[in-house]
Amino acid sequence: MTPVGAADPGSSTPAGATSPGSSTPADPTAPADSDLVRAARGLPVRRTPVWFMRQAGRSLPEYRALRAGTRMLEACQDPDLVTEITLQPVRRHGVDAAILFSDIVLPLVVAGVDIEIKPGVGPVVAQPVRSVADVDALPALEPERLEFLATAVRSLVAELGATPLIGFAGAPFTLATYLIEGGPSKEHARTKAFMYAEPEAWRRLLDRLAVSAATFLRVQADAGASAVQLFDSWAGVLSAADYAERVLPHSRAVFEGLGDRDVPRIHFGVGTGELLALIGDAGADVVGVDWRVPLDEAARRVGPGRSLQGNLDPAVLLADRATVDREVRRVVEQGRAARGHVFNLGHGVLPETDPDVLTAVVELVHELTAR
Ligand code: CP3
Repeated sequence: MTPVGAADPGSSTPAGATSPGSSTPADPTAPADSDLVRAARGLPVRRTPVWFMRQAGRSLPEYRALRAGTRMLEACQDPDLVTEITLQPVRRHGVDAAILFSDIVLPLVVAGVDIEIKPGVGPVVAQPVRSVADVDALPALEPERLEFLATAVRSLVAELGATPLIGFAGAPFTLATYLIEGGPSKEHARTKAFMYAEPEAWRRLLDRLAVSAATFLRVQADAGASAVQLFDSWAGVLSAADYAERVLPHSRAVFEGLGDRDVPRIHFGVGTGELLALIGDAGADVVGVDWRVPLDEAARRVGPGRSLQGNLDPAVLLADRATVDREVRRVVEQGRAARGHVFNLGHGVLPETDPDVLTAVVELVHELTAR
């Protein structure tokens, strides 16, 4: 089978010529030398790589058709469905990376925590974590239970050819918000109250979540994922001081759990303008930026040693084409201030997005940045 997104075979160089540390592309058919990985490392690229958070999902009619009749968390544990759903946006849009179809709560579900994803709501936890005893009762994630995940990643890597697969996990803080609130919330007040009132239990909870996130990422990296993204979606509700003291060490532990696996690390949260430098310090090669801070300013906040990912406002994709075109150009221009730029949205694709607009954005970013 021809790999999805494979480069023209006539342009390939022998596999032995790959030199990931070099500044000239050596093997355009290797995902480890893809523009995504190169931009993440701050190396020159053929053109700015682009993918979209939540690119697999309800903006695509072929996703809705395939998912019909299967519950979200069951779909995430079926390697054939995971493979097909992950490939759909790569085929349709020509994005420069696939992101594993899964969910941030999956490691908890596999470990045995009773969680359901309610359509239009998000993850709902049957018995929220509200006490020290609840923390200690959380089951650990046994790596042997992740065979389905390794199988899905291996089949994806085989199908994707030159296109890199991004593995991911939810960061300890964001997972803690679901466990403590019992479901999605705006203020995360119970979570913060627990963090302040029970500092020891909080540390134990985040320690445990870091261990399971690291296990989840290691399985994906070992099965062939070319990069990983740690989603700390809701970390932006914290002050920099609280983030630095009570959250960052646990996110750093997740990245450290990857050991010397040579995969670039992307770290992202929403509303993290005041935290961007700290998010980088947690161990990221690439800092994800939402739409609130322009990328040139984000580059200043993050400093020279890291690349940036982002940051088109997903709502812009619902506007007219002239607006989309103008905003894409602005993001590309401001992204030039970064060491490396991975074009993305500032958060996930909204379900009502016209998929043809996503395809047009990929084409425009490529056209604007072709070297
Ligand atoms: O394409 C991709 O980005 C890969 C798949 C992916 C999903 N969830 C699929 C999904 C990824 C990377 C996630 C991560 C995730 N899940 C995050 C971090 C990213 C972010 O948005 O900040 C968070 C916070 C969650 C928790 C979660 N899961 C929410 C808030 C929801 C939406 C609820 C809804 O129905 O609107 C989910 C469900 C979910 N995860 C869906 C998909 C495709 C929709 C479920 C469905 O199709 O029925």
